[in-house]
Amino acid sequence: MFSRTYGAAIQGIDAILVRVEVDVSDGLPGLELVGFLASEVREARERVRVAIHNTGIVFPPKRITVNLSPADVRKEGTAFDLPIAIAILTAFGHLSQELAEQTIFAGELSLDGRINPVNGILPIACCAKENGFSQIVVPVENETEARLPGELDVCGCEKLTEVLDFLRGGVRQEHDRGSGAEAIERAPDFEEICGQRAAKRAIEIAVAGGHNLLLMGSPGSGKTMLAKRIPSIMPELTREESLELSKIYSVSGRLDHVDTLLKKRPFCAPHHSITQAAMAGGGNRPKPGEISLASHGVLFLDEFPEFERRTIELLRQPLEERRITVNRVSGSCDYPASFMLVAAMNPCPCGAFPDRRVCRCTQNQIRKYQGKISRPVLDRIDLFLQVAPVDYTELTGKGKEESSTEIRGRVCRARELQQRRYADAGILMNAELDTKRLEKYCFLQEDGKEMMRDAFYRYNLSARAYHRILKVARTIADLDDREQIDTMHLAEAIGYRRRENE
Ligand SMILES: Nc1ncnc2c1ncn2[C@@H]1O[C@H](COP(=O)(O)OP(=O)(O)O)[C@@H](O)[C@H]1O
Ligand SMILES: [Mg+2]
Ligand SMILES: [Zn+2]
Repeated sequence: MFSRTYGAAIQGIDAILVRVEVDVSDGLPGLELVGFLASEVREARERVRVAIHNTGIVFPPKRITVNLSPADVRKEGTAFDLPIAIAILTAFGHLSQELAEQTIFAGELSLDGRINPVNGILPIACCAKENGFSQIVVPVENETEARLPGELDVCGCEKLTEVLDFLRGGVRQEHDRGSGAEAIERAPDFEEICGQRAAKRAIEIAVAGGHNLLLMGSPGSGKTMLAKRIPSIMPELTREESLELSKIYSVSGRLDHVDTLLKKRPFCAPHHSITQAAMAGGGNRPKPGEISLASHGVLFLDEFPEFERRTIELLRQPLEERRITVNRVSGSCDYPASFMLVAAMNPCPCGAFPDRRVCRCTQNQIRKYQGKISRPVLDRIDLFLQVAPVDYTELTGKGKEESSTEIRGRVCRARELQQRRYADAGILMNAELDTKRLEKYCFLQEDGKEMMRDAFYRYNLSARAYHRILKVARTIADLDDREQIDTMHLAEAIGYRRRENE
């Protein structure tokens, strides 16, 4: 007796179709699972056997062999319990082979026959759709998630018996699902920040060109407050970005009760005690890390120098490639990690520098404190901003502040300009310009060249810093709706370069 059903294996943030084959033969009774399986998949043996038994189905003592193919894809997680159980029941003639083969199954079984939710349902449903399946059976908790790709007939089940009822006669159990409506929280808006014109301007530039940003200022100057509002001025997620982000959250098990793909840009602010694995992703049961969860949004690292050096160092690859490869014992996995880095730090151990009336830190202490962040990481930051505490008149004044919507309008226009300019270059934003493209797109006139030459010697710029200034100037010109970068744009960009020990 032979049967076949389908499940899917998660790799990175995508799913690969997995065929579950069952053969029942005479011979020593037993249940054997093969096919490059992680330990939790091998344990399915016990869960499946007991769950079927507790559903009231008894099968004769036979030799059962389950094979999950393709053999070169490692199968992890507990979502194979359900397809394995269905394949076994089909092999024993409890279900028609035809029915079982039309459907993709995913779900973890409890010993009592209940079906528990699993991670990664969104990519699995996408995989079902791409492979031409019309039907998917998932745990009831994952039902809304499975509906996200659309065009699939989704059946959410609470128990194994419900799956059987559905497959045999299309009978669906009605489930009482709590309303998915979350309390609508108001997103923080730049409107709420008094004054801070210079900081807001720098943030607008950073977002418009996709640049990374470091905020330096004393405690209470409003760094966190500013950073939190950055997603509110970013352009809307495109459909592809939204799908990718939702898949990342799906395989992390964080896509609960959504009835649409994620629409909000993420803001991730891990504490400085975060481990490398939590930052980069990976682990025994692979999961995306904070840098992936921040995809298409903001990764905010507050108290930047307090992070472990190696945790910061591992940002280097994703900052260049917008992806991260996590090496594991059982092979590597690859996650998207395209985020805007916003870091914040105090300027010195006491936090008050450059206010020398308060700060008694020595030059050496300050240098040491700021030197905690490695150069290669600093080199990947384009804008350095000193945040001064808001002054009294601005804090108490009744002046109307610009809203995030207004700022976003300008950001979007600048982004559109860039997209049009780089349509053939295969990039989207100024931040992605490499040296070769820089020369082409950041052309300077004589007075501009002179200004840069001057700055180069006066501030002892590195080649990298020089290029960063050009990119930022490109963005400033774009916000100004100018194709030609002029000295005014350059001067502002030079103002955002890193200052060492000034
Ligand atoms: N420009 C400002 N407008 C309104 N409130 C401000 C401003 N700057 C600071 N605050 C207030 O000060 C608090 C502390 O700011 P915060 O962002 O936490 O500072 P930091 O992160 O630099 O230590 C904020 O929660 C806010 O109430
Ligand atoms: Mg803070
Ligand atoms: Zn100090």
